[in-house]
Amino acid sequence: MTHPIIFDTDPGVDDAQAIAIALRHPEIELLGMTTTYGNVDVATATHNALLLAELAGRDIPVAQGAAAPLVKPRHPAPAHIHGANGLGNIALPEVMGKADPRSAAQFIVDTVNARPGEVTLVAVGPVGNLAAALQLDPSITERVKRVVIMGGSIREGGNVTPVAEANMFNDPDAAARALTAGWPLILVGLDVTHRCVLTPEHMARIEAGQGELGRVLADSYAFYRDFYREALGIDGCCPHDSCALAWLLRPELFTTARGHLGVATSGEAEGQTLFAPEGRAFIEPRWSQSPLVDVCLGVDGAAVSDWIADVLA
Ligand code: BDR
Ligand code: CA
Repeated sequence: MTHPIIFDTDPGVDDAQAIAIALRHPEIELLGMTTTYGNVDVATATHNALLLAELAGRDIPVAQGAAAPLVKPRHPAPAHIHGANGLGNIALPEVMGKADPRSAAQFIVDTVNARPGEVTLVAVGPVGNLAAALQLDPSITERVKRVVIMGGSIREGGNVTPVAEANMFNDPDAAARALTAGWPLILVGLDVTHRCVLTPEHMARIEAGQGELGRVLADSYAFYRDFYREALGIDGCCPHDSCALAWLLRPELFTTARGHLGVATSGEAEGQTLFAPEGRAFIEPRWSQSPLVDVCLGVDGAAVSDWIADVLA
C-alpha cells in the first residue's frame, strides 16, 4: 500500500532524516512539504526542505507556513542543538528551486480536498500550519485520512521543560486546536522517540547509501550527537521525527492507547500534553470531553532504529 502524505516540518537534523525517508521510501507518495519555524526560522526551514528534496533528485512542492506561534512570543531557535542553519552548521550547496506560492495552510487544504479520504498529514514541528489549515477549512477533518503528530509526552516527561515536549511547547495554542480537532489522530511522542537511538553505526550505513544527501545527513548528525551526549548521556541521537513515519509504515512495532488529549496553554505546565484514557472516570468530566485519539506508549526501539537505517542504507 502507498501512503500519500504531506510532511509538515521545521528542518532540523532529525527532520532531515525523516524527510530523506519520505523522499526515498517506495510506499510513501510525498505530495509536498509544508514548513514552519521551530528548530530554525521559517525561511531557513523552507530552504532546507527544498535543498533536501534537490539532493534526493526530487521535485517536490514546498509551501512555507507559520513564522511564529499563534499567541505566545516566539522562543529563539535552538541553534545549540540543530546548528544555526538547522543542519549542524555544515556548508550546504546552493538551492535552485523556489517555494510554492501558496501558504502552507492553503497547500494542506487544497491537497486534502483534492483527494478526499486519501491524504495523511504527518506533522513533526510546532503545529501552527495544522491550526491555520483548520481555520481556513474546518471541514478538512472529514477528508483527511489521518494526522500523525510527532510531539507531546504521555508519561515520559518533557525535553524542553520538566513536562513539555518541544513541538507542543513551541505553540501550545495551535497544539490545543490540532489535538482536539476531531480528525483521526495519532500522537507519536517522547514515550517512544526516547526509546529509539540512531547510533554512529546506523549513520555510517545511511551515509554510504545516500550519496550527497547522505553526507548532509551524516555531517549534521555529528553536530546533533554532541547535544545527546551532554543532555541524555547517550552515544547517538533520538530520531524523533522519523518515528512518525515508522509508525505509519510499521505500526506493529508500537503499542498505543486510546483516549482524550489536551494541552496546557499557559502557566508552569505550558505545553504539557494531558491524556485521559478512554473510559476512565476522573473527579470531573472535563478531561474526557475532547474527541478520542490514539497515543503511542511503547515501541521496539531497536527495531525502529534498524528500520530507519535499513530504509536509508
Ligand atoms: C521535536 O523537537 C524538534 O527539535 C525535533 O525536530 C522534533 O520534532 C522533538 O521534541
Ligand atoms: Ca521537527
